[in-house]
Amino acid sequence: MNILVTGGAGFIGSALCRYLVANPRNRVINLDKLTYAGNLASLRQIENFPNYRFVRADICDEAAVAGVLHSENIGRIMHLAAETHVDRSIDGPEAFIETNVLGTFRLLQTALQYWRELPEPAAEVFRFQHVSTDEVFGDLPFDDSAFNEATPYAPSSPYSASKAASDHLVRAWHHTFGLPVVLTNCSNNYGPFHFPEKLVPLVILNALDERPLPVYGTGANVRDWLYVDDHARALDLVAAQGAVGESYNIGGSSERTNLRVVETICDTLDRKRPRRNRKSYRDLITFVTDRPGHDRRYAMDTSKIEREFGWRPRESFETGLSRTIDWYLENDWWWRPIREGSYRGERLGSSVAAQ
Ligand SMILES: NC(=O)c1ccc[n+]([C@@H]2O[C@H](COP(=O)([O-])OP(=O)(O)OC[C@H]3O[C@@H](n4cnc5c(N)ncnc54)[C@H](O)[C@@H]3O)[C@@H](O)[C@H]2O)c1
Repeated sequence: MNILVTGGAGFIGSALCRYLVANPRNRVINLDKLTYAGNLASLRQIENFPNYRFVRADICDEAAVAGVLHSENIGRIMHLAAETHVDRSIDGPEAFIETNVLGTFRLLQTALQYWRELPEPAAEVFRFQHVSTDEVFGDLPFDDSAFNEATPYAPSSPYSASKAASDHLVRAWHHTFGLPVVLTNCSNNYGPFHFPEKLVPLVILNALDERPLPVYGTGANVRDWLYVDDHARALDLVAAQGAVGESYNIGGSSERTNLRVVETICDTLDRKRPRRNRKSYRDLITFVTDRPGHDRRYAMDTSKIEREFGWRPRESFETGLSRTIDWYLENDWWWRPIREGSYRGERLGSSVAAQ
């Protein structure tokens, strides 16, 4: 299968490329614009694989995307390219509209034209897979409710609104034009190669630097945590076996408050890399002003993907976090240039009004 992965230099996209190229029957073309979040260092271990190729391009560039679709005889598009950080969407939402909404629209148009020209049986097996988020469903109360695939959309942030818009476009291109699509909505990912502006790597790296560990509000917000390699495996399953036009929720079955996530990182680091002063890293926890419009709780009902494909996460939050912390302790060659260059750990997204 010749697979086009958009956003393959990002956190989840790079994990997906590493996963897919391990199967010699796959040829993987990674198309990425290389924004601040794209990092080819995340692909170092596969960059010389004969079944892997990187193309630097913007998903908004229809000619560049069409060229790759035709020249590589693509049979499946896995669309992950996006602006993804909620805090950045508060500081500057326009890039989110450009890439997540306009970019997805342009990619759909290009894919549709390509698919219409495909002969059978290639047209029959072609898939456009759209990767989205649990955040499109909005805010859950602190109870045992969970989002399922039929939950109405109610996005709260500029990021989640832009992802919701892109999900609607993908469904419309299926219903109106017949494009064979599948959609996935997943919960918060964590794992190796995660850009240090996101909570888990930010806390690990700030702790190692003896810097404050920022917790928004009281830290009571709940997220469901999904180990990135479990996600990559689920994406491949859904792309290969998912029913056209359907969406599938993917989650880690690991709901945690933000405060508990930070405390678990501290306790794990206390064991793996004790501080020189022998105090706990928990002493560095600092409560900061909450993110405006911060959703209280997300939780995923993943019974559909479990029932239909037998998929379950292999990592619990504790085992996945332990692996993640080990990886950050052993791979400062990857994160140090980012911390010293494009992102130095500063607070983002605290402004109430968008600029
Ligand atoms: N990380 C999560 O917890 C999470 C949760 C749910 C859904 N998602 C979704 O999964 C996808 C991947 O997320 P991630 O965390 O890996 O993101 P990321 O920010 O780490 O990576 C995004 C990648 O997309 C690329 N990109 C951005 N704009 C582009 C454009 N116009 N053209 C081509 N490439 C472009 C960037 O260079 C980067 O490599 C996104 O669609 C995101 O909405 C992520």
